[in-house]
Amino acid sequence: MTQRVLITGAGDGIGLGIAGEFLKTGATVFICDVRGELFDEEMRRTFAGCYRTDVGSTDDVASMFEDIRSKAGGLDVLINNVGIAGPHAGVEDIDLADWEATLRVNLTGAFLCIKEAVPHMKAQGGGAIINISSVGTLTVPPMRSVYNTSKWAIEGLTKSLARELGPFGISCNAILPGIMNNNRMRGIMERRSKHENRDVDDIAGDYLKYSAMGRLIEVEEIGHAAVFLASDKARGITSQFLSVCGGTAYED
Ligand SMILES: NC(=O)c1ccc[n+]([C@@H]2O[C@H](COP(=O)([O-])OP(=O)(O)OC[C@H]3O[C@@H](n4cnc5c(N)ncnc54)[C@H](O)[C@@H]3O)[C@@H](O)[C@H]2O)c1
Repeated sequence: MTQRVLITGAGDGIGLGIAGEFLKTGATVFICDVRGELFDEEMRRTFAGCYRTDVGSTDDVASMFEDIRSKAGGLDVLINNVGIAGPHAGVEDIDLADWEATLRVNLTGAFLCIKEAVPHMKAQGGGAIINISSVGTLTVPPMRSVYNTSKWAIEGLTKSLARELGPFGISCNAILPGIMNNNRMRGIMERRSKHENRDVDDIAGDYLKYSAMGRLIEVEEIGHAAVFLASDKARGITSQFLSVCGGTAYED
């Protein structure tokens, strides 16, 4: 049967890369993004649904799932990809509002989508949930306490739900992307390059120093991992964290 797949935050970046790989499998692919303006005519023709959705809003998430249910009758694969950077600051300088807003999007957003998807997956006897964490849980970048916390929490949610939903044939895994070759990461490196008056390749070297392969990761590579984890070939795999990061580890 054709897989019915929803990918959040898929107007750009990793989410769009994952969506492209699922399309190649013949899946029925739904995507959402808080920036509805990213969806052009071609995307609207290609995808089964393009929703302007803030995953932190219960109303937005509920109406998106209502539409998916009416179009597809349910969902087989949920990919919680949305993640915002949150404040770069020492912990004492983080505003409570920024702390809460980051957790609302990165963690509660995934919870709200899972809460809507699980009843269908249980009713049909299976499904796959894939949460996008980050290689940041391996490298723990400083001054990023909210982001890091949200990603550890996503991994905790992954383990908890794998245990809880396994008896219903629902897998729950996480993918940890490395340093990506996408607009978001290129933007960060270009801003740092200007600010520090250093070559952009030099800045990239800072980010890649803990990667064995020493290269940026393409969005399609995250898509390949997601397609595999959602496939029949991975039906014995749950509660796992799959890093697609070129082999990241501290060397000193
Ligand atoms: N870029 C990297 O190097 C990198 C590395 C490790 C992990 N990640 C993780 O991968 C995921 C995707 O990252 P990316 O680099 O593709 O980011 P991105 O910013 O390019 O794409 C994320 C998309 O999510 C959308 N979005 C933001 N808030 C939203 C909300 N409240 N509701 C719905 N959509 C929302 C954005 O508009 C954007 O289009 C994130 O969870 C991120 O933390 C990225």
